[in-house]
Amino acid sequence: MGKKINIAIDGFSSCGKSTLAKQLAHKLKYIYIDSGAMYRAVTLYGMEQGIVTDEDLDKEALIEELNNINISFNYNRTTGKSDTYLNGKNVESEIRTLRIARMVSPVSAIKEVRTKLVKAQQAFGKEKGVVMDGRDIGTTVFPDAKLKIFMTASTEVRAYRRFRELIARGDKITLEEVKENISRRDEIDTTREESPLIKADDALILDNSILTMEEQFDIVLDWAEERQKN
Ligand code: DC
Repeated sequence: MGKKINIAIDGFSSCGKSTLAKQLAHKLKYIYIDSGAMYRAVTLYGMEQGIVTDEDLDKEALIEELNNINISFNYNRTTGKSDTYLNGKNVESEIRTLRIARMVSPVSAIKEVRTKLVKAQQAFGKEKGVVMDGRDIGTTVFPDAKLKIFMTASTEVRAYRRFRELIARGDKITLEEVKENISRRDEIDTTREESPLIKADDALILDNSILTMEEQFDIVLDWAEERQKN
């Protein structure tokens, strides 16, 4: 085994970034950090305070509240995964709803929100040995990461995968609604002013539209082992 490195995984919504990042962290005995969960937690906080509604958000009020938001991750022995905590409360399930997904892009477009979360994310990576997934990890959070991966897949493939997930957890939703949500998030994520989703120059592209999970994992593990050596 080589030296510990930080691994940045960026890409569009519902590309399977977190599945890959978790597998990789598990295999390499690294820590996995879900940066999107942090933006979702801020969105949930705003909703609980009535600052973020289903259609709108009060930007100034949310910025004022930022100091009252504390996000952490704790290992869950039952599921074997890490759960997201908002001010000491486990919100792992609540932040995965479509209601949160609908408002998280506008919340994550706010500069002050990003400044706060990027700082926290950089602190997680200080000791190396972190796999983090998101939209701006290779460009802004860890510009020096030894391995950067940019994941993509067609909108159809992504919508269908997410649709199956949501249905499995009992959400009443159509494939069309999921597709709409994904397209809208792609649009906001790639065109926002603050750290838009773009591929870092030195990121390796992984298009998984037609790869199985195993094929994808083998490719990425090779990349990681190679980068750990140098
Ligand atoms: O990865 P996800 O779908 O859980 O992310 C939720 C939203 O958070 C996504 O629409 C964009 C935003 N996000 C971001 O702006 N920057 C990140 N590093 C991670 C997520």
